[in-house]
Amino acid sequence: MSPQLALDLSGPAALPLTKRLVGSIVREIQRGALAPGAELPSSRELSRSLGVHRNTVLAAYRELIAQGYLETVKARGTFVSRKIPASEASPGPSCVAPLAIELPPLALGPVGRVHPEELPLLGGLPDLRQFPAAELHRAYRAALRSAHELFDYGDAQGHIRLRKELAAHLRNQRGVAAHESRLLVTRGSQQALFLAARALIGKRGVIAVEQAGYPAAWDAFRVAGAELVPIPIDKGGLVVSALARLAKRRKLAAVYTTPHHQYPTTVTLSGPRRLELLELAARERFVIVEDDYDHEFHFEGNPVFPLAQKDEHGVVLHVGTLSKVFAPGLRVGYAHGPRELIERMTALRAVVDRQGDAALEVALSSLMEEGEFGAHVRRMFRAYTARRKVFFECLERELGDVVEYEPARGGLAVWARVAPRVDVQRWALRARERKVIFQVGSQFFFDRAGGDHHARFGYARLNEAEIEAAFRVLRLSLPKSRGSSSCHEAGVDRSARGARKGIAKKVDL
Ligand SMILES: Cc1ncc(COP(=O)(O)O)c(C=O)c1O
Repeated sequence: MSPQLALDLSGPAALPLTKRLVGSIVREIQRGALAPGAELPSSRELSRSLGVHRNTVLAAYRELIAQGYLETVKARGTFVSRKIPASEASPGPSCVAPLAIELPPLALGPVGRVHPEELPLLGGLPDLRQFPAAELHRAYRAALRSAHELFDYGDAQGHIRLRKELAAHLRNQRGVAAHESRLLVTRGSQQALFLAARALIGKRGVIAVEQAGYPAAWDAFRVAGAELVPIPIDKGGLVVSALARLAKRRKLAAVYTTPHHQYPTTVTLSGPRRLELLELAARERFVIVEDDYDHEFHFEGNPVFPLAQKDEHGVVLHVGTLSKVFAPGLRVGYAHGPRELIERMTALRAVVDRQGDAALEVALSSLMEEGEFGAHVRRMFRAYTARRKVFFECLERELGDVVEYEPARGGLAVWARVAPRVDVQRWALRARERKVIFQVGSQFFFDRAGGDHHARFGYARLNEAEIEAAFRVLRLSLPKSRGSSSCHEAGVDRSARGARKGIAKKVDL
């Protein structure tokens, strides 16, 4: 081992040794002790010098390779990647002079990022260790070799092969009468949301959004110039009657909604409200921007078709993403809807981004054509089903006396009400110090005007052992409430909880 390496494996006992080793190596890279290109000790050497099992070192190396910190060179060894993420590189010389003008205010939410040594209990992150990287690599290489056309200015709407595959996916999996001519491939659904707002409102207009809701969408709409009006949600999803009242008073350009698994609560929009919403949009002439971000992960009950499946009046723009089923770093999303809207969004897209990554789009269409994509989704569905079981067991065992929740039928997260005496913000900070991340409810509310006693926990990125470890940390991190943290004194009435162990209690949103 390089003499200057100081690998420190201390940390919360509940954090798996592999994670501690990962964190320690990342810190060495960040402090410059391990420079890009530096060779790491062999797994055998390192396991001997640290007194840990060799599998622990191998697992840590694998994770760091997946994260882009390390790379292997065949028959030579493991090295610090020469392309470590830019945000990890040591800061360069500072700029000579500060900006001379004052920039206008820009109130946007933070853009978060998970570090490799952290255990994220976050709903939106798929497990990338299972990502079929070798298959994508092969398909990408084949795409790059196949046609010079891919290096040229291409179709701003997205490569026709991927559009065809995505349209077929929408037809087969979601029952939408989709066609490639009415589908736009975007860089993640985030770009689709921004383009939709721009296309719909021109210079200004009103977009109704769910409260609680998805702040990244709100930011996209605001930057596009929209005025946002929050509409409440309850156990049946968006309160359509409240939207109808708003539509009487204000001319709406659109409503943004997540009807399948409402974000952040995961409740599903009720059948009657679906019809009401479609009729309301047709009558009042506004567009429903339907964000169906994790459709494939519905675990109980019948699959619920999207609003787009019943769109007889041309009022639904259906937005989707590969971020959950595949990987967020690919930045591939899509929008499907009425032709005029898609054409306008395509024209706007060409202005800000010209086109997507054509080679990647072709590689992905190969994976979809070969069935690799579908196989991956099925694999992940099985993996998440098993994790979900452990997740709910842990939730009940470790936090059963401080949280109430509805065991969501779909989605990769749970929305929980936390006993009033627990300071959720402090709890999250204490957990973060121990490298476990969860979301505080207030971040999903306008002006943080609610959600103080709610939290959102997700499980997709972590395997069963990591879920167990993360929940032990959550338990340990609970701040001492004034009084006691026992269930009665912390404010959760156990008698109101489900009779069967492991089955959650009804909870008011
Ligand atoms: C509600 C919602 N929509 C969309 C996305 C996906 O965004 P993107 O496709 O830009 O990665 C997420 C990811 O967290 C989400 O939570």
